[in-house]
Amino acid sequence: MAATLSHKTCTLTILLAFFVYIALATQVTHDGRSILINGERKIILSGSIHYPRSTPEMWPDLIRKAKEGGLDAIETYVFWNAHEPKRRQYDFNGNNDLIRFIKTVQDAGLYAILRIGPYTCAEWNYGGFPVWLHNLPGIELRTDNKVFKDEMQNFTTLIVDMIKEENLFASQGGPIILAQIENEYGNVMSPYGDAGKAYINWCAKMAVAQNIGVPWIMCQQSDAPQPMINTCNGWYCHDFTPNNPNSPKMWTENWTGWFTNWGGKLPHRTAEDVAYAVARFFQTGGTLQNYYMYHGGTNFGRTSGGPYIATSYDYDAPLDEYGNLNQPKWGHLEQLHSVLHSMEKVLTYGDIVTIAMNNLVNVTKYSYNNSSSCFISNDNTTNDATILLGGQKYTIPAWSVSILQDCQKEVYNTAKVNTQTSMMVTKPNEAEEEPRSLAWSWRREQISKNVVQGRGSFAAHGLIEQKAATNDTSDYLWYMTRVNLDKNDIIWSDDMRIRVNSSGHVLHIYVNGQDLGYEYANDYPGYDYGKDDSYGINSFEKKIKLKAGKNVIALLSATVGLKNYGAYFDMVPTGITGPVELLGVRGDETVIKNLTLHTWSYLTGLQGLDRDMLFSERSVHATRWRSSGDFRINTTLTWYKTTFKAPIGTDPVVVDLTGMGKGAAWVNGQSIGRYWPAFVAGEDGCSLDACDYRGQYDNNKCVTNCGKPTQTLYHVPRSFLKDDVNTLVLFEEFGGNPSQVNFRTVTIGGACAKVYEGNSLNLSCNGKPISEVKFASYGDPQGVCDSFGKGSCEGTNDAHAILTKACVGKETCSVDVTEAVFGDASNCSDKAKRLAVEIVC
Ligand code: GAL
Repeated sequence: MAATLSHKTCTLTILLAFFVYIALATQVTHDGRSILINGERKIILSGSIHYPRSTPEMWPDLIRKAKEGGLDAIETYVFWNAHEPKRRQYDFNGNNDLIRFIKTVQDAGLYAILRIGPYTCAEWNYGGFPVWLHNLPGIELRTDNKVFKDEMQNFTTLIVDMIKEENLFASQGGPIILAQIENEYGNVMSPYGDAGKAYINWCAKMAVAQNIGVPWIMCQQSDAPQPMINTCNGWYCHDFTPNNPNSPKMWTENWTGWFTNWGGKLPHRTAEDVAYAVARFFQTGGTLQNYYMYHGGTNFGRTSGGPYIATSYDYDAPLDEYGNLNQPKWGHLEQLHSVLHSMEKVLTYGDIVTIAMNNLVNVTKYSYNNSSSCFISNDNTTNDATILLGGQKYTIPAWSVSILQDCQKEVYNTAKVNTQTSMMVTKPNEAEEEPRSLAWSWRREQISKNVVQGRGSFAAHGLIEQKAATNDTSDYLWYMTRVNLDKNDIIWSDDMRIRVNSSGHVLHIYVNGQDLGYEYANDYPGYDYGKDDSYGINSFEKKIKLKAGKNVIALLSATVGLKNYGAYFDMVPTGITGPVELLGVRGDETVIKNLTLHTWSYLTGLQGLDRDMLFSERSVHATRWRSSGDFRINTTLTWYKTTFKAPIGTDPVVVDLTGMGKGAAWVNGQSIGRYWPAFVAGEDGCSLDACDYRGQYDNNKCVTNCGKPTQTLYHVPRSFLKDDVNTLVLFEEFGGNPSQVNFRTVTIGGACAKVYEGNSLNLSCNGKPISEVKFASYGDPQGVCDSFGKGSCEGTNDAHAILTKACVGKETCSVDVTEAVFGDASNCSDKAKRLAVEIVC
C-alpha cells in the first residue's frame, strides 16, 4: 500500500512538474505574417546590445533604457573567440557572461534574440572566429568542410546546451524567442559554389537538430532552406520579401548609424531617417524589427575587427557608447514604438490595401474588425505632398511617413521630431585638485637580447603568415633574419636600403637593435563588401647602415584588428608577406638582394606587453619605472604610468588621450582598448548641408569630425575604478606625449528642441536640475539647435517666462505646445506653429 501511494505521489509530482513546465513555457511559432507568442501574432521591436561591448554592471541600466524606449526584445550575437580563446578552453566570465546577460534581459521582462552565428561579422576581430580554428589542419572556414563543421557544431551545441541548462529558451519558460545560425552568408556565398550551398543546407539541419523549441532565422539568405526564416539587413528593408509564404517579414539589422574606423570620420544617421525606415517597414507588412545597434559600446582589449575598426563602437545608436540617451534618436523612436504597439492587432491581423499615388506617395490602409490604421509615405526626396483622405487634408513632408490612428488623426510623422536634442559635454575630473597635471612615470619597452641577436622561438625558411605564426595571441610578431655581408657584396654601397612588402597593418624596422622607424597602412579601404584582397603596407623603403660581417634585421609586424567580412575573409594574409629586399644603389644602378627565402626566426609578442605584462598590477616585472630624470616623450615602444582619483558621482568616465600616438591602455590592469589619437580623419565631407535627412542614407552622409583625430576619448567603465587610487598604464607604440592626458566625465550640458503645435514638449537634464532657459519662442522660430532666432511671428504670451517658470530648478518639465499656453499667434497665418527652446543643464 505504502509502495503504491509513494508511486502515485511520484507520478503526480512528475505530472505536476510537467504542467508547471507547460504553463511556464512560452510557445513561439510563426505564420507568414508574424511571430506568434502563445498563438497571438505580435509586433516585435528589438535592439542589439552586444554583451562584451559593455560591462555586467552596465547591463541592467542599458536594458532598462531599452525597455523604456519601447523595445520588446534585446538581440545579441554570441562571440566564439571571446568564449573559446584556446581550443576547448572556455571563458564565460565578466563581460563574456552570456548567461548573466540573458538573465538580465529576462529580469527586465524583455524577450531575447540569440544570434549564435557562430560567425558574427560585427566589426569584431576575425568576425568572431578564433584564429586557432584557421590553423587547424585541413580546415576551410564557412564551407562544406568536415573539420570546420565539426568545430562549428561543437561550439553551437555547447551554447545551446548552456542555454537549455538554464531554461532560457522560451520553450522552457525563458526569454529567447528566436535564434540565428550563420550570418549574411547569402551576401558572400557565390564564390563558394556548390560547397557553399551544401554548407548552408547543413547549417539548417544542424540547427534544427539542436531542438531548441523556438524558430531559427538566417539573415540575408534568400535561399534559406525551410524551416529557416530568411530576414533582411540594411538601412532600409521595406522592399524585402521573405522566400517563403510562411515566413514573416523580419528585419534583423536596421543600422542606426555606422561604425568608425581609425582615420575615419564619425558617422551619424538622423533620427528622422531611422524612423522613416522603420515606418516604411511596418507600412509594408513588416512585423519584427531590430536596431543594429541599440547600444554599440566599446571594443575593449583586442576585440575590434578589421582592419582598423576603432575602439569606440558608438554607432550613433539610440544609447551612446557610455549608455546615455542619444537624443533625439532615442525619444523619437520611443514615440514611434508606442504608436506601433498601439496598432499591434490591426497591423498583424488586418487586411492591407496600398494605393500608389503620384510622386512616390503611397497610402496604406490596415483594417481589422472595426478598426483601421493608415500610413501615408512620401518617398520623394524634395517635395512635400498634400493628400486628401476621407475628406481631410494631410501634408506629408518629403522623405517621411505619417501614421494615422483610425485613418484620421496623424499621431506620428517620421520627419517631425518632438524630442529634445541633448548636447553632451565632458567635464574635468573634479576629484583631482589639478586635473590636468597627472604625474607620470615611464620606461622603455625592452628590445630583448633575443631580438637583437635574431633569436626567435622557432625558425623557418621563408616568410610565415602572421596568423599562422601567432594564433593571434598578440598584435605583434617579430620576423628576424641574419645577413652576412662583406665589402665585396653585390649590394655594398654608400646607399643601402631595405624594402619590405607587408600585409601587416604596421611595420617597425630594426637593424642590429637600432630602430629605423615605422610605417602603417593608411589608405583604409572602407567596408569592402565582397572585396577579398589583402590590405597592408605595399612597399616600405628605408635607408639602412649595415656592417661588414653579421647583421640582424628584425621586422616587427603589428595587426590592428583582423578582417571580419567578405568571401574568404579568413584567408586574407596578414604579416610580412614579402618580398623583403636589400638594395644597393650606385648611381643609376640598383642591385637587389632578396631575403624573402632566407631563414627567418619568429617571436610572437613583445617582452613588456605579452610576457612581463607591465600593465598588470600583479606583474612582478613591473618594476624599474622611472619617475625622475629625462622624461621620454615621442619615442617608440614606451610605457607610461600614472595614478588618478576616480571622478566623483555616477557620470560615465573617459580618459582623453590627446597627444598620444598609437597604443593600448589599461586602467587598474583592465584593458580599455587600443588607442590611436594620432590618426586624423580627412578634411573633407563634413558639410552640414550634406546632412539633409531626406534621401537614401549611406555611411558617408552626415559625418562629423573632419580633420580631427578619429578618437581621443576612451571609455573607462565605472566598475573598473576603485574609490581611492587608480592606475592608468599606456603602452605607446609610435611615440606620444602624455602631458595633456586627463580624465573627464561625460554629462549633458544642455538641450534644445523645436516642437510642432499640438504636441507636448518634455525637457530633461538626465537627472540634474535645469539651470536656465537660454531661448524660447512660439511661432515660426528660425535656425537650428544652438543658434535659434525668433521668426516673423510669435504668440502673445512670453514663451521665455513660461518655460523658465515651468522648468528652471527641475530635473524634467513638460509643456503643451498650444496657443492656449503661448497665446494667440494668428499673426503666423496658416504656418504650422512650433516652439523652439534651448536650456542649460
Ligand atoms: C552586417 C553584419 C553585422 C555588421 C554590420 C555593419 O553586414 O551582419 O554584423 O557587421 O553589417 O555594422
